[in-house]
Amino acid sequence: MEGRFITNKELITDDGDISLRPTTFDEYIGQEKVKANLKVYVAASKARGEALDHVLLYGPPGLGKTTLAHIIASELGVEIKVTSGPGIERAANLASLLTNLQDRDVLFLDEIHRLNHSIEEILYPAMEDFALDISTGKGAGATSLRLNLNKFTLIGATTRAGMLTGPLRDRFGVICRLEPYSADDLVRIIKRSARLLKIAIDDDAALELASRSRGTPRIANRLLKRVRDFAEVMSDGNIDRGITVKALNDMEIDPLGLDYNDKKLLSAIVEKFDGGPAGLDTLAAAINEDAGTIEDVIEPYLIQLGFIARTPRGRIALKAAFNHLGVKQPEKAALQQLSFLNQDQ
Ligand code: ADE
Repeated sequence: MEGRFITNKELITDDGDISLRPTTFDEYIGQEKVKANLKVYVAASKARGEALDHVLLYGPPGLGKTTLAHIIASELGVEIKVTSGPGIERAANLASLLTNLQDRDVLFLDEIHRLNHSIEEILYPAMEDFALDISTGKGAGATSLRLNLNKFTLIGATTRAGMLTGPLRDRFGVICRLEPYSADDLVRIIKRSARLLKIAIDDDAALELASRSRGTPRIANRLLKRVRDFAEVMSDGNIDRGITVKALNDMEIDPLGLDYNDKKLLSAIVEKFDGGPAGLDTLAAAINEDAGTIEDVIEPYLIQLGFIARTPRGRIALKAAFNHLGVKQPEKAALQQLSFLNQDQ
């Protein structure tokens, strides 16, 4: 089992580059409300000399949940241990992590919605009473003993807050939802990353990249590195708007940041299902994609753009999606959209 747990020393970030991660609240760009509130909670718990209440961070992938967890631990001045729901296969794995936490340490549990339910039950007394209940023996000889843990802060991260069980969700004192970033914030993030990576990029290019990054810093940083490749091979290494547009077009990333997978999903709803409604599993089969990936990764941005909507009968494509694909919206789809919008009010 060794190696299943990722320690902070070994942590490979999702964008593969630890140097781009902000390490303090002040360096962290965007998510202003979440940041301002977290600053208060961190300062208050520090002043009281207590562990920070358990924190749940949720929102689409790539918005900085892991980064924030590291910042919280560092601002608290404590150690962070990192693991994930699917990484904890047995109760003993979690027990060993919990018993090794020092006073006020942070345990970061990524993808907490994928934690096995029998293991999740160990977390309840751990979060509430800082205790670990251990049962030994079977039948009449069974005994149970309670081990006290140091006070700690659990930071859970999930793309699907709705998939957490009620008892688990109720044990978080702080719940923060991360939102997609504005183009302005992404421009600042891109410029900061460019500075750290010693890449020359002008304002127009940064804005072009930001507009095609789907509100997501992880994507912005990834695209920045790819555009640098184009600039170095096809030009003088400096990133201007011209080379940015060429690189992104060659990568099949359109002016709104939609990529091949987004287009595939949109076209399926629009063309195969005449604008929907189409159920998630039907769509997943139609485009040969995992339903979870559609829900967590592909859909949030399309919903944010007002291209698709989730209705009780399935996904529907909205007028903006038809316009974007250059397809005329059939009357049936327009009426459907109207009834969906009225229902919503
Ligand atoms: N890099 C990735 N996300 C960031 C953020 N929110 N602020 C600054 N740099 C980042």
